Amino acid sequence: MPTEVLWVDKYAPKKLSEIIGWRKQVEEFVSWFNRALRGEEKRPCLLVGPPGVGKTALVHAFARERGVELIELNASDERSAEKIRELEKVVVTGSITGRPKLLFLDEIDGMSGTADRGGVSAILKIIKISRIPVAMAANDPYSQRLRPLRDMAYTIRFHALRSDLIARKLKQIAEAEGLNITEDAIKAIAQRSGGSLRSAINDLQALSSRELITKADVEAMLGVRDVQSNVFEALNKLFKGSPELAKQAFEDSGLDPRAFLLWVKHATTVAYSDPDEVSRAFDSLSKADIFLTRIIREQEWGLLKYAIDFMTMGVNLAGEKPRGFIRWGVPSRFRVAREEALRSALAKIARHTHTSTREVRRLLPLIRIIASKGRLSFLSREEQAALAPLAKQPPELKEEKEARAEEKPRRRRRAARRAAKRSSGQATLSLG
Ligand SMILES: Nc1ncnc2c1ncn2[C@@H]1O[C@H](COP(=O)(O)OP(=O)(O)OP(=O)(O)O)[C@@H](O)[C@H]1O
Ligand SMILES: [Mg+2]
Repeated sequence: MPTEVLWVDKYAPKKLSEIIGWRKQVEEFVSWFNRALRGEEKRPCLLVGPPGVGKTALVHAFARERGVELIELNASDERSAEKIRELEKVVVTGSITGRPKLLFLDEIDGMSGTADRGGVSAILKIIKISRIPVAMAANDPYSQRLRPLRDMAYTIRFHALRSDLIARKLKQIAEAEGLNITEDAIKAIAQRSGGSLRSAINDLQALSSRELITKADVEAMLGVRDVQSNVFEALNKLFKGSPELAKQAFEDSGLDPRAFLLWVKHATTVAYSDPDEVSRAFDSLSKADIFLTRIIREQEWGLLKYAIDFMTMGVNLAGEKPRGFIRWGVPSRFRVAREEALRSALAKIARHTHTSTREVRRLLPLIRIIASKGRLSFLSREEQAALAPLAKQPPELKEEKEARAEEKPRRRRRAARRAAKRSSGQATLSLG
């Protein structure tokens, strides 16, 4: 089966000047490295920010441009403390060839999971003994586990990329690939990317087989997924964060207040099991409900902030913060049919295998097995989800499947994380 080159790789920046945004961050990184080489800077560098904004790309482009020998560990490697210990030998030798070296520990939040408690201390040790500069990258700026590293590091922060910057890059790629895409459609992809250029580029590629790509195509494809992942992130904030952080969850979710209430109601039963906690949370939600009814009936939008406080802070304070990865699930009301995703998955497979969609449909059971092995990486995430047997796996269970993988051996967890990232560019939820 011919495999397409991923555009995120094809169009990855080759030099620092091709990095979009992040002028200041690039400068900081280069000057940190220079100081570290001269021995003036002992701190490791920590790049922190959301997925798909160019942290790894920056380090790679830098190493390439500067002729730096990159020694790298990331989430797809065996991530035991042991593996890091092997690196101990490498980092104490420093550079003999005159070619500077850089140790890059990428995606460190993925590495120091509960199953790998030794992770952080192994990193701390290697930083201590290393004679070459050490850079790290992570997504979650609040992770408790990474705290010791964060405290000692020279931190460079990244944020979601501005959507006009994303749109500009998409336009270049669309031109290079000879796509027929409307200005609106490009804007829509950029706006729905959540500030992740990786996600945006993957989405553009997923749509690229169409003769003409319009805004409606983008919305049909991306609507469901975006809503869900934003909401899951928001729920994490709401239940696991401080009350102040919880308060932002409503805005983050991108939902209207009524829909948000339904999601939080559903999530409450997932997050809390103690009857007192559930009861307090529902009490708060019922107050929000009363406010919302009044707001809508009397158009008193000034009351909205109270409704939001009850739905967010009120629920947040109702119980103990849940720990670990949570499968939020989707309230039944919001489960959306995946017929469209299924149809486009079948069409793509037909194209790749030079057969008809009808033939592909006939072989569906077989294809589902292949898909479940993660072999159909040219499909987007929701196309893959749509291929999973519907009886066993209703649409929202995609997230749950990843969650299950979390609980299983780490190899599978990483595989799921990688697969999800590659295929959709969306972040897996960070595992507090
Ligand atoms: N700022 C950027 N400039 C140019 N290309 C970018 C930028 N950000 C992302 N990309 C594109 O998206 C791809 C993925 O970005 P990258 O791997 O650097 O993300 P990341 O910030 O390391 O995310 P993660 O936290 O998930 O590892 C890159 O290969 C590149 O094609
Ligand atoms: Mg990265």
